Amino acid sequence: MKKLAVLVSGGGSNLQSIIDETKNGILKDIAEVVIVISNNPLAYGLKRAENSNIKAVALDYKNMERKDYDAKMYNLIRESEVDLICLAGYLKKIPEKIVSEYKSRILNIHPALLPKFGGKGMYGHFVHEAVVKAKEKKSGATVHFADENYDTGSIIIQKEVPVYETDSADDVAKRVLVVEHEIFPKAIKKVIENLK
Ligand code: GRF
Repeated sequence: MKKLAVLVSGGGSNLQSIIDETKNGILKDIAEVVIVISNNPLAYGLKRAENSNIKAVALDYKNMERKDYDAKMYNLIRESEVDLICLAGYLKKIPEKIVSEYKSRILNIHPALLPKFGGKGMYGHFVHEAVVKAKEKKSGATVHFADENYDTGSIIIQKEVPVYETDSADDVAKRVLVVEHEIFPKAIKKVIENLK
């Protein structure tokens, strides 16, 4: 059974799909979420963890020195002896020490078809607004290995959704979120199957 740490900044619907798949789905008897960490003490994702009796830790990013934040994050991850780190709507950069020690074991979900519509400032709703503004015919979601940059790192899984001329950014966001919840657990399973 592989141990997962999940990092969240907001509502945690991707976290919930991972938890659900570990209980009754494709990750059952394969992986368990052992810790959920957030940079935002008000993140509903922490509540979802508590509801599933999973250790939930808030690190108050806004009121901490960056080096203390990174050190606490590193120690929590090390102490939890996790095999994989999943960035599920986590909006902060991962400390370099974690990136180097967990190379090819940090997975990030991005609500677009990378490499398009990725990078600094391209997160959440900004992505879908840019997709609609660019009159794209399709969008989708990407799970990739996270590295020291935003939204680079090799792609593990992608899935497309159509974008219609009449779509608002909200319409696209809703359609992409359904796909996110499907491909993140699949990507975790794929990586675990390839872990030495
Ligand atoms: C998702 O589209 C995710 O890709 C983005 O924020 C949205 C909400 O994620 N970063 P969640 O509900 O917090 O998992």
